Amino acid sequence: MINYNEKNKTFTLDNNEITYIIRIDEKAHLNHLYFGKKICLADNVEELLYGHLEDKLFGGDRLLNTYVNKEYGSYGTGDYRSPAFIIKQENGSKISNFCYHSHKVYKGKKSLHPMPSSYVEDESEATTLEILLYDEVSETELRLFYTIFAKHNIIARHCEFTQKGNSPIYIEKAMSLQLDLADMEYEFITFSGSWGREKEIRSRKLNWGTQSVSSTKGVSSAEHNPSFILKREHCNEDSGVAYGFAFVYSGNFLCEVDVSTYDQSRINIGIHPQNFTWKLEKGETFTTPEAVMAYTYKGLNKMSQDFHKLFRERLCRGKFRDKARPILLNNWEATEMTFDEDKIMSIAKKAKEAGVELFVLDDGWFGKRNDEVHGLGDWFPNLEKLPSGISGLSRKVTDLGMKFGLWFEPEMANMASELYEKHPDYIFRTKDRHSHSFRYQYVLDFSRKEVVDYIYKQMHKVISESEISYIKWDMNRYFTEVYNIELEADRQGEVMHRYILGVYSLYDRLTKEFPEILFESCSSGGARFDAGILYYAPQTWSSDNTDANDRVEIQYSNSFFYPISSHGAHVSAVPNNQTNRITDIETRANISYFGAFGYELDLNEISEEEFEIVKKQIEFYKKNREVFQFGNYYRLLSPYENNNAGFMSVAKDGSKAFALFYERLAKPNRAPKRLKLRGLDKDSVYEVSILGISKIYYGSYLMNVGISTYISDIPKKSGDFNALLIEISKI
Ligand code: GLA
Repeated sequence: MINYNEKNKTFTLDNNEITYIIRIDEKAHLNHLYFGKKICLADNVEELLYGHLEDKLFGGDRLLNTYVNKEYGSYGTGDYRSPAFIIKQENGSKISNFCYHSHKVYKGKKSLHPMPSSYVEDESEATTLEILLYDEVSETELRLFYTIFAKHNIIARHCEFTQKGNSPIYIEKAMSLQLDLADMEYEFITFSGSWGREKEIRSRKLNWGTQSVSSTKGVSSAEHNPSFILKREHCNEDSGVAYGFAFVYSGNFLCEVDVSTYDQSRINIGIHPQNFTWKLEKGETFTTPEAVMAYTYKGLNKMSQDFHKLFRERLCRGKFRDKARPILLNNWEATEMTFDEDKIMSIAKKAKEAGVELFVLDDGWFGKRNDEVHGLGDWFPNLEKLPSGISGLSRKVTDLGMKFGLWFEPEMANMASELYEKHPDYIFRTKDRHSHSFRYQYVLDFSRKEVVDYIYKQMHKVISESEISYIKWDMNRYFTEVYNIELEADRQGEVMHRYILGVYSLYDRLTKEFPEILFESCSSGGARFDAGILYYAPQTWSSDNTDANDRVEIQYSNSFFYPISSHGAHVSAVPNNQTNRITDIETRANISYFGAFGYELDLNEISEEEFEIVKKQIEFYKKNREVFQFGNYYRLLSPYENNNAGFMSVAKDGSKAFALFYERLAKPNRAPKRLKLRGLDKDSVYEVSILGISKIYYGSYLMNVGISTYISDIPKKSGDFNALLIEISKI
């Protein structure tokens, strides 16, 4: 999978479908030659190097020139494009000259633990190339890591800087991945939005200049997701060329594409350089987070399936990695913080009667937490509300025959809390400056071990005294006045990254000590929905917007990179809390099935007729959840382009599939719509069942002609916002 050609001085990384080529030039610098569909290289290295420019234009030190594609480019010696890294040396110079020193090729993959990274279970699954470069003046080593997977068209990358010299260096920018593409004929697709409208798909044609998405909020995906696609104009779900990129990290990030006026596109992905510096003293190493990049010539859906498989099976970890997720009921939308033990038990009992497997107690159970102003940071039970504490309540719930889950927001404190009274210095605060609150809360300085330890002790006590099977780890505000009171002035640029390392370290301790617990990550919904967090929490709450119509879009967008098992998706009450929209309970469930399914309401509050429907939904999901959560997922119709949406999951063994057809607004007398299915066996015969009516079809028919989905023709279905669930069983 990885070869070094002495003659050409090229490294070729390939599997059955893709090739990546790096070259060492005459000055011992690394040039990037190629990433794409599998090719074989003869002697035509120079052609790949310059692409569109005549050699004679360069003259002199031509190989440093900005028009030569670099593997990990630096600024200051003739490359004017956005650099992969900047290191400032003691004399203030930022010039460097990293030259090839040596390389290693080995089976398997290096772990970045406790920083998240994809992994292998068997060394034959991947091969790694590690290239060592050295800058003689600053006496710094730079290692570039490339892992190519045998069965995924994905390459994982990260870098390490090690200071060998006596003088420290300051890393001001250190991208995890740089990729120079030879042209700019791509659409830049990003997943951008805000609270309640996460991951709207945005597309723009690349143009000269820099285009980017980023976060400087301390949390990864409050506005833009740390993932994006570059696709050729005619690439669609089924065919065509695209590159996909995802950053395996949960903090500030930059994803940029810098397009030169010679149409070259340079991609950089890494920790956002704004407010970032890392001091590296002799003997110290700085490791960047991992970034992964995929190539497809088989369309976007194939690329998504590749990411799903890698993330689900070789990034997520722990007991729940391959395990069907419990059907849960969360009390948040039903009660918010206004509840007592009786109320909670009445919700839990009704949930049990419906067949729910896990009851989750959300915000409001601790300290003096009766409103947003109080209690965050005090992770001990509020005995006025819950006289038998969490240990008692969790046992009462488990005695009902259900598992018990609990909400925490470990990284936060209210000023009105015992934590703040005892340790006012634990929150981020810049001396002599006002600390801004948001939701009346402040960010704890998780870059300090002492602070993380304090929270760990409290969480550990509650968890070990109680019967807890699930934790919802929330994070509900962005950073301001970031400053670590213990670090020297020239290390303050490290705080944001150290913070995320602190978050990972707490996750690491808790997941190791409580391996039976399922963690779900949340950040006011999807503000921390990134590949990094999946390493610790295999599912994420997709959005606080639980409206069925909006969830079709959000879950559809989630599917470009993140496996279906990772999308927290719940049925909530109507009119919907966020949109006031009324949708039918079957529509709400049909959409939520495509995720880690649950309920977010008090089942005592719905009609008997609806309760009977809920019971059937739960029974149905218990039988079929593996197909939804772990099947091969296909996008069929985009809700961003249509009055309709469609997607489906096909069981790994192909025996069963479920498809969703969604119609936003009813239209009288419209042309019948056909939904073409995907991922079936063309020669097999399938029974297709819609609302209890079954018909027989060949796979080839279902995929090429499709099924008629004229919702108004189907008994009992009319009006707006209808989602039909189509069951497809191989005969
Ligand atoms: C955030 C979460 C919600 C809920 C509340 C509790 O908004 O996204 O699901 O847990 O916090 O305060």
